[in-house]
This record gives sequence, structure tokens and C-alpha cells, in this order.
Amino acid sequence: MTGATGQLLSVRHLVVRYDASGSRRQSLTAVRNVSLDIAPGRIQALVGESGSGKTSLARAILRLLPIASGQVLFRGQDMATMDRRQLRTTRRSIQAVFQDPLASLSPRRNVMQALLEPLDHFRIGLAAEREQRALGALETVGLDAGLRHRYPHELSGGQRQRVSLARALVTEPDLIIADEPVSSLDVPVQARIIELIRELRDRLGLSFLFVSHDLSVVRRLADDVAVMYLGQLVETGPAANLLGQPAHPYTRCLLASIPVPDPDHAPPSVVAGEAPSALTPPGGCVFHMRCPERIARCAAEMPEETRASAPGTDHRVRCHLWNR
Ligand SMILES: Nc1ncnc2c1ncn2[C@@H]1O[C@H](COP(=O)(O)OP(=O)(O)O)[C@@H](O)[C@H]1O
Ligand code: SF4
Ligand SMILES: [Mg+2]
Repeated sequence: MTGATGQLLSVRHLVVRYDASGSRRQSLTAVRNVSLDIAPGRIQALVGESGSGKTSLARAILRLLPIASGQVLFRGQDMATMDRRQLRTTRRSIQAVFQDPLASLSPRRNVMQALLEPLDHFRIGLAAEREQRALGALETVGLDAGLRHRYPHELSGGQRQRVSLARALVTEPDLIIADEPVSSLDVPVQARIIELIRELRDRLGLSFLFVSHDLSVVRRLADDVAVMYLGQLVETGPAANLLGQPAHPYTRCLLASIPVPDPDHAPPSVVAGEAPSALTPPGGCVFHMRCPERIARCAAEMPEETRASAPGTDHRVRCHLWNR
């Protein structure tokens, strides 16, 4: 079941701040007025350079960080107004996978214990059923049942990330929030985990929020893409539209910086210049200090969100070039 809008998860005007602490006098706004929908059975990618606010947004959705303002709706219902029972069901339905499986798996629990823990926590099934479910999850992620007695340090990086995925899957969630899940893996292992995520989407109808700083990874698996810069979403839309006809200069820069196998056509490795600090964001368009296409009004006026494709496609961009 989805909400009245047909979306599984909707983020509305979300703001996340880190309060001033220690030597810092100012609070920092990591997520600025972000709205985003995740549809059932879709892989929604969230991409942007390091420091753009991706993890803060993901953690706020998971309720691991407080929300300064805005809403997170699951199946149309605001999570802030859910009663305990609804919140518990929703928490079971939204699971997380993080970048470093060694940090998220306890070194003292073997694979089976790691998989049983969420089942015990949510009191799912009887003891004998729990073992069966755990073994089923191992099989789903392509791991041999013989690995169930191993500890995290006895597994390879790819196997550990599969265990993290299996742990997220045992509760039979609808949505997995994966924050840089392949960033610490070698390229061939990355490719196999990406393939597995696509397969889980197809076979189980799962939705993913797939967070990555790497557009070349995103290009290989996303159904929908959201591009984040300095806490704002600057472009959102179906992957085919957004990557095929990128509308925002930042997206175009990110795409142009994807390495290509041909060394004679090596692109610049990064977007020119450094992103300003989120502590002192620029006025006007957040990207104007690095934008190769800026015009006079960019430094003074923040662009509104505008449609970037023909009606019927929800491809949106925040750039004055689209609203002259
Ligand atoms: N715990 C924290 N305390 C203060 N500032 C933080 C904290 N975590 C992240 N930030 C800041 O919030 C902004 C967004 O960071 P983050 O969400 O980690 O971005 P990303 O995941 O895209 O790299 C950055 O400016 C970062 O320095
Ligand atoms: S609004 Fe101006 S500075 Fe911002 S991305 Fe568009 S052209 Fe560049
Ligand atoms: Mg991050």
C-alpha cells in the first residue's frame, strides 16, 4: 500500500541543522528545504560531492538526526505524528546500509547472530523461523549458508556488504536507504553489489535511496536521480532524462568529470574550484561561484525550481537559465 500520492516515501521542505558547539559559534544548515519522492520499486539515487548534505538527509529520514523543520511522510503519513505502533512498523519497513560494513557490523557477532538481531528486535517469527529467515536472506544476497558462523573480520569487503544487505532484508522492508554502500569496495566487487541491488529491486519490488558521490556508479543503477549541492536539490528527475539531457550546469560538470577508458579524452577530474563552506553559503544561486554558465542575476537571486522537460515528465531544475 502507498499513500494517496502513490509515493512510498516523501520528504517535504526538510531542513537539517547542526547546532553550534565547541569553538563553532554558528549553526550549520546541512539540508535546505529539500523535497523528494521515492516511488515503490524504484532506485532513487542521491548524488553530489562530499559535504553536499547527502548523509545528513539520509540520516534525517532514518530519524538518526533531528529534523529542524519539514516532514518525512511514509505512505503519505507524517512520521512525526505516528503513534508508537505505527512508528515501529515503519521502522521495520525502512532499513539502512552504510558505507563501511565493518563499522556497522559488530565484531563480536557472527553472521547468523547479526541477522537474528533485527528479527529479535522486531519480534518477528518464532526462534526456529528466525533461523530460516536469516538463511533465506543469506541466500537472497548470494552468500553460502556455510558463512553463517564467520565473524566480520573473517569475510571479504564484498561479503561483508552482502551481510549488511542481508541484515537489512531480513525484516522484509519496503525501502532500503543505502549511504555510499559501494564506495569502499573494489570496482569488480562494486559491480556485483550494484547488480545485486538491481536484482533486489526487480525480484522483491524494493525501493532504494542510493546515496553516492560517484555519478558513474549512479548511472549504472538509478531509475531516478536527485543532484544535491550545498544542501539543496538542484536537479531531480528520471535517470534517462536527467543523465541524457542534464539541465543544471552542476550536473553537466559532474557528468563531464566521469572518467572514460580512453586516455586521449581524459576529462577534468573534478568540478572546477571548491564548494563553499555550508557554514557560509553564498547568496543567490548556491552554485554561482563555480558555475561556468552564470549570468548577472545568479549572485543576487536564488533560482526557483522549474520544469526542465515536457509536461508529463517530472524533471525539475533550479537554475535561472530555465526561467528567463
Ligand atoms: N556531525 C556534524 N556536525 C557538524 N557538521 C556536520 C556534521 N556532519 C556533517 N556536517 C556538515 O554538514 C554538511 C553536510 O555533510 P554530509 O551530510 O556528511 O554530506 P555528504 O554526505 O554529502 O558528504 C557538511 O558541511 C559537513 O561538514
Ligand atoms: S542559476 Fe546561474 S549560477 Fe546557478 S546554475 Fe544556473 S546559470 Fe549557474
Ligand atoms: Mg556522506
